[in-house]
Amino acid sequence: MEHTLTSPLDMHIHFREGAMLRTVAPLSAREFAGGVIMPNLVPPVDTLERLLRYRAEIESVTGAMNFSPYMTLFFRAYREEELRAARPHIIGIKLYPAGVTTNSEAGVQSIRDAEPTMEIMESLGIPLLVHGETAGFVLDREREFLPIYAHLARRFPRLTIVMEHITTREAVALLDEYPNLYATITLHHLQITLDDVAGGLLQPHLFCKPIAKRPEDRAALLQAALTPHPKVMFGSDSAPHPVHAKEAAACAAGVFSAPVALPLLADIFER
Ligand code: NCD
Ligand code: ZN
Repeated sequence: MEHTLTSPLDMHIHFREGAMLRTVAPLSAREFAGGVIMPNLVPPVDTLERLLRYRAEIESVTGAMNFSPYMTLFFRAYREEELRAARPHIIGIKLYPAGVTTNSEAGVQSIRDAEPTMEIMESLGIPLLVHGETAGFVLDREREFLPIYAHLARRFPRLTIVMEHITTREAVALLDEYPNLYATITLHHLQITLDDVAGGLLQPHLFCKPIAKRPEDRAALLQAALTPHPKVMFGSDSAPHPVHAKEAAACAAGVFSAPVALPLLADIFER
C-alpha cells in the first residue's frame, strides 16, 4: 500500500545543541515538515534571547530543508511583558517538574507557585506542554500526575494543556474528561512495553522517561493513535544522548528514534 503524508509534524523532539544538533536535526528535517523543539538544554531555553539564538542555530543546520522549528520556552515564573514579547516566537511553554527527567533540575518545585504564570499564558493564548510525572514509584509516576492535569484543566479552562508522551490507559481516558486537554504519543510507546526494556538483557537504548508500561497500556495508546483520537498528536520524544551516556552503568533516559520514526509509524498504521 502507498501512503502520502504531505506535511508530517513531530510535536515533541529533542535536537540538543552544537555537534549533536548538527548530527540529529537533519534526520528529522529530511522527513518532517516541522517539529516542536524541546527547551531542556543546559542552561534551559528560558529567555527570548536564548530562544532566538537557539532557533538561529537550528536554522543554520536545517535551513535548506523546508523544516519549521516550532520553539518552546522552558517553564519558569514569567512576567506578563516577557510572555507578550515571546508569544509570536513560541508554540508553547514546556513545564518540567524539577528533577523528573533529563536536564529538568531547573523545573518547577510547586505547581501552586506556577499557577500565576499559567494564568498569564491562558490570557495570552499560549499552550502549556507538560512532562506529567511525579517523583513516585517509577511505574506510577504518570498515573499519580493525572489529578494535577485534571486540576489545571479545571482551574484554567481556556488554557490548552498538552500531556506530553502519555504512556497509560488512564491518561488516554482523561482526554475525554476535559476539552482543553490534549496529548502526544511517541513511536516507542506504541511499540514496546517494560518487558522489552528490562524483561531480558537490559536494553539501555529503550530506557526513557516515562518508562514503557504494561501491554494493556500500549493497547490503549495504539487504540487512541489508530482510531484516531482527535486530541492525540504524534510526538517522537526522540532524545539522543552520546553512546557513552547510554551504554553506561547509570544510563541516561531517552530513546533516539528520529532516523526511523516516520517509516516505523507508517508500518504500524499499515499493519
Ligand atoms: C528526554 C531527554 O533526554 O531530554 N528524555 C526522555 O527520557 N524522554 C527528556 C524528556 O522528554 O523527558
Ligand atoms: Zn521529551
